[in-house]
Amino acid sequence: MKAIVILISGRGSNMEALLAAVVRGELPVRIAAVISNRPDAKGLETAAAQGLPTAVVDHKGYAGREAFDAALAACIDGYAPDLVVLAGFMRILTEDFVRHYEGRLLNIHPSLLPSFPGLHTHQRALEEGVRIHGCTVHFVTPALDHGPVVVQAAVPVLDSDDEAALAARVLQQEHIVYPLAVRWFAEGRLRLEGGRVRLDAERPQPPALISP
Ligand code: GAR
Repeated sequence: MKAIVILISGRGSNMEALLAAVVRGELPVRIAAVISNRPDAKGLETAAAQGLPTAVVDHKGYAGREAFDAALAACIDGYAPDLVVLAGFMRILTEDFVRHYEGRLLNIHPSLLPSFPGLHTHQRALEEGVRIHGCTVHFVTPALDHGPVVVQAAVPVLDSDDEAALAARVLQQEHIVYPLAVRWFAEGRLRLEGGRVRLDAERPQPPALISP
């Protein structure tokens, strides 16, 4: 069974969704550790309460990105994971770090990339007046919130939406597509080949989402 390490910075709801899928028997991976760059990340408590190994590599203890990323990589590699899963890990990563994990580093981002990389994605989607928004799971490249797309889920933007309502609708989809993408990887169906995603899996063919 493949081992994964999950990196978080805060709430950890995506981490919880992954763990829940493991517990339900729907995700054949061993969660080797949950690592945070913030000692006060709420998700760390949740992980520890569920019996998962946890670790903290506090970015404040390092002089620069290179030193922090080297320490983080050493911590991760101590668990020898097959896959590293960024789940709300809010740090810009150095090129060396990203290259070290090439093809085995996934991220989830709360927008339909390449739209709205960075922060405040839901507010920006509302301000732009887009009618369809969503989330993206992608392999990580050195550019922020960028890389070959594995899976996206789209949701309508409703006239009644505020940032919280839209964020909640997207988050619900995050909790579905991230376990799915990690399962594909765990089953050997998903890989990065020459910078492109290769996916050998049954895929639903939903009708188009038309909004409004
Ligand atoms: C999620 O919405 C995730 O997509 C986002 O942070 C949130 C973490 O929530 N990630 C990014 O913005 C990465 N650029 P969680 O801690 O409850 O999983």
